[in-house]
Amino acid sequence: NESGISEVTVEVPMNIALVKYWGKRDEKLILPLNDSISLTVDKLTARTTIRMIQGVGKHTVEINDEKVELSSNKRYQTVFDEALRLQRKRKEDSNGNENRSVSHHFEVISTTNFPVAAGLASSAAGFAAIALAIQQLLNLDDIQANRLARIGSGSACRSMSGGLVHWKKGEKDDGSDCVAVKTKDDNWTDLYCVILVFNDGRKKVGSSEGMRWTRETSTLLKHRIEKVVPERIDLIKKAYATRNFEDLARVIMADSNQFHAVCLDTIPPIRYLNESSWQLIETVEKFNQPEIKAAYTFDAGPNACVIVQKKDVSKFINALIRDIQINTDDLETLPEEFRSIEYQK
Ligand code: PMV
Repeated sequence: NESGISEVTVEVPMNIALVKYWGKRDEKLILPLNDSISLTVDKLTARTTIRMIQGVGKHTVEINDEKVELSSNKRYQTVFDEALRLQRKRKEDSNGNENRSVSHHFEVISTTNFPVAAGLASSAAGFAAIALAIQQLLNLDDIQANRLARIGSGSACRSMSGGLVHWKKGEKDDGSDCVAVKTKDDNWTDLYCVILVFNDGRKKVGSSEGMRWTRETSTLLKHRIEKVVPERIDLIKKAYATRNFEDLARVIMADSNQFHAVCLDTIPPIRYLNESSWQLIETVEKFNQPEIKAAYTFDAGPNACVIVQKKDVSKFINALIRDIQINTDDLETLPEEFRSIEYQK
């Protein structure tokens, strides 16, 4: 507008990896060692307003009413620098070579409806929201926006579209072929994700540090990247396309387990799961007899994401109530259609 401020608000969902990303081949451009594939969880979102303000000033970021210390969170600076570089480039392109750049700074206000940094990929939704908002402000193409999300937080590039999203590691050193793309299939709308928050504190070992240690010390990681991941990506795509829940679930659980095994295979070992996580794994294993109806998966934290088909959500919630001491008041967060008579206290 005339005061030199442009503003955009977007709402972007988190995503949960079914085949995990763990390890970078380039820490600056955030290029992963392996492909990954995720589902977008549309009920868990980061709602973000970005203002781009003309004139010299400091960027500010506020998440859930708390100011983010940008000097210790360099990723934001990287994203803003890249956005302003793209903006200058566009100006130069349209004004010939005449570079009449005016300085700008950004103000970001974001609220998430789930815990930040507890292994629930909240940074993914947050950076994806920033990237999407900047895309709209600066009229960027999808590849540029995808890269912007990625250099904020790798897994964020998978939140730029809905459904089943494949983040291809690419081969090139400049990252130009490293993008997350929505798979062609229609979304499998019958899939639900039950999230169990066992601990909403910040994780002990951040993913960047953890990935570096694993890459430097784990022998299992090498095997995983070369032999296991490519096959699993194909299996997930196939199972999703044919709506084969059992096959999908088997791969999801195996990959979550291997990711945590790779963390344990790191020196010093990294342990993200806690006693509650293990109890949940046991509950799911029991629930899956004789037929697989649920799949657990854990990111870099103890909180679980359990994927179930709509028809089995009630049964699964009942199994949870029976097996682990969940507070039935927490069930309030369930969608209306699942708050049925079956799980009264
Ligand atoms: O994007 P980051 O740096 O937060 O890394 C995410 C890593 C995992 O959540 C553990 C796995 C994944 O693919 O999302």
